Formats: sequence, structure tokens, C-alpha cells
Amino acid sequence: MSLSGKVAIVTGSGRGLGLSYARELARQGAAVVINDVDATVAGEAVALIEADGGKAAAVVAPVGSTDVARQLVQAAVENFGRLDILVTNAGILRDKSLLKMTDDDFDAVINVHLRGTFTCAREAFAYFKENGIAGRIITIGSPTGQRGNFGQTNYAAAKAGIVGMVRTWALEMKKAGVTANAVIPVAATAMTKTVPYFQKAVEADERGEAMPAFFRHELGFGTADDVSGLVAFLASDEAAGITGQAIGAGGDRLQLWTHPEAAATEYREGGWRYEDLVANFGPLFGGKLQSVGEEFLPLPEDLKPEAQPAAAPVKVG
Ligand SMILES: NC(=O)c1ccc[n+]([C@@H]2O[C@H](COP(=O)([O-])OP(=O)(O)OC[C@H]3O[C@@H](n4cnc5c(N)ncnc54)[C@H](O)[C@@H]3O)[C@@H](O)[C@H]2O)c1
Repeated sequence: MSLSGKVAIVTGSGRGLGLSYARELARQGAAVVINDVDATVAGEAVALIEADGGKAAAVVAPVGSTDVARQLVQAAVENFGRLDILVTNAGILRDKSLLKMTDDDFDAVINVHLRGTFTCAREAFAYFKENGIAGRIITIGSPTGQRGNFGQTNYAAAKAGIVGMVRTWALEMKKAGVTANAVIPVAATAMTKTVPYFQKAVEADERGEAMPAFFRHELGFGTADDVSGLVAFLASDEAAGITGQAIGAGGDRLQLWTHPEAAATEYREGGWRYEDLVANFGPLFGGKLQSVGEEFLPLPEDLKPEAQPAAAPVKVG
């Protein structure tokens, strides 16, 4: 097995995508530290992996603080002797449009996603460096972080920030042979199941049927298991040369995202004064302004949700 002898931490792995990542890493031979705030699902995840013949231990604690990041690395070393792979997957949503978003809504999301990714990655990288391990850091972004989405100021900031950190870590970790990448998933989980737009796909999945091809193919929306192969691949020796990337997976779709770069460049000797911009910005850049927001294709008639609330914005985790 490609990951045999390796040890992984997957944060937020009691359910949803994290559970699928943990099970796939275990299937590929890694021992896994399960982490969640929900002790019941964390225990069930350990039992599932053990029933499949894998090795797992649980740490029930909220990701965000340095203390919890330390606990996770210690648990990997104490239970399984080392650490090779960190997947920072734990996440929450507190969706509200800007004027309704409270400081608490903002801080809670930033703390779990952005700070949790930062503290866990810092702890794991320190361990990798100290022990000469060419480790793997796999963070989790979102289409919202890449493109923006209505009602997700906090989440967009956290997820865009995670990809920003990955680009920086690819530079800082290169010499140590450690890779850092972001996976951009889309899948039916507790986070997305209530989105009316995906209703027909979720219902098919719950009936144990394959999701309609339109969801899997055109929208790149499938099950959590559709994403876990990419996580195991990035964790493997096969992916040693891949770092600093944002890679999307969902349904039948795999995507390599671009990083932001200048879309147009103009020069003016002496710089650009207000008057110069008034006269020239439109002619130079007007036709090149960048689009924002995720693109949601219109659903075919037979795949439309039965009772979609009027003007409900689409939110994908
Ligand atoms: N589902 C999607 O389509 C989608 C899309 C883009 C990104 N994501 C991201 O994927 C990750 C997993 O999402 P999901 O859809 O599986 O969500 P989920 O809600 O099904 O699972 C998230 C898990 O994280 C746990 N968790 C929450 N806060 C935690 C904390 N502080 N410490 C430890 N565990 C914590 C929860 O208890 C839960 O078990 C998240 O980072 C999410 O933002 C999901």
C-alpha cells in the first residue's frame, strides 16, 4: 500500500469529507489520528477504520489554538511513533451578509479554518524539520475562497487566506522537502446537503443511487469519497514534486486552479496620478475587469429542487 508506515492527522474527521479522507488514508496504509469536537462521531470514525483493518486514534478537541495543534502532533507520535501527513479539514459555517455578520460570526470561522490551519501546520512543519521528514501538508480551501460568494465574508476570507498561506509555505518548506497544497472540494455533506440547488443530487445519494450526471460532471458535485483519492495522492511519495497548488475535486471533475497574476499591466513614467487614471483607466483596463463569484449553471428542468425559497443565494461550503 502506498502509505504504509506513514502516520496522518485529519482534523474535523468525525464526519463528512474529513471522515472520507481519513478512511482513504487508512485504506492506503496510513495510521490516522482522527480529530473532532464531537466525541461520538470521532469514536465512530476510529471504529470504522479499525473495522476496515486500519489503525486510528481519536483526539476530541477544537482545532484553532496552538495547544490543540500540539496535542494532535503528540497523539500521532505517542500512538503511532511519527507524523508524515497533516490534513487541515476542520470547518464551520456562520453565513450572513456583511451587515448582519457579527464579530463573533467572523472570529469563529477565522479561528477554526484559518488559525486552525496555521497552528496545525506550524506544529507539523516543526516536527517534520526536526525529524528530517519530507512531510505533507494538505489544507482545504473552497470555491468561495477562490471566487467569492454571497453571504460568506468570513468563510471567503478564511479560505482565500488558506490558499495564500499555502503559496507562502511552498516557498518556506521547499528546502525541507515538505509539500503544502490546498484541495478545493465540492461534495454532499452536512455543510451542503441543505442547499436547494443540490437537492436532487443529495436525494439520489440518500437513496443509494448514483447522482445525476449533470451534478457529477457539469457542476463537479459528488460524494465525499470522490475527493478522498486526491488527498491520498497528495499525501503519497508520488506527489513529492507537487507543492503550492490549489487543486479542485468533486464528482467526475478534477481541476487545477490558477493563482492570481496581473491580468493587464501598463506603465507611465512618473507614475499614475488621479487625473491620469480618470483619463486612462477605462480605455486601458475597462474591458479587462475581472469577474467575481462562483458560477452556478442553470439546472435542467427535471433536476430543479421542488420548493426553492425565492431568491435564496446558493452557498457551497
Ligand atoms: N462540503 C463541501 O462541498 C465543501 C466545499 C468546500 C470546502 N469544504 C470544506 O471541507 C471541510 C469539511 O467540510 P464538510 O463539508 O465535510 O463539513 P462537515 O460539517 O460535514 O464536517 C466538518 C467536521 O468538522 C468538525 N469540526 C468543526 N469545528 C471543529 C473544530 N474546531 N475542531 C475540530 N473539528 C471541528 C465538525 O464537528 C464536523 O465533524 C471544511 O473545511 C469545509 O469548509 C467543503
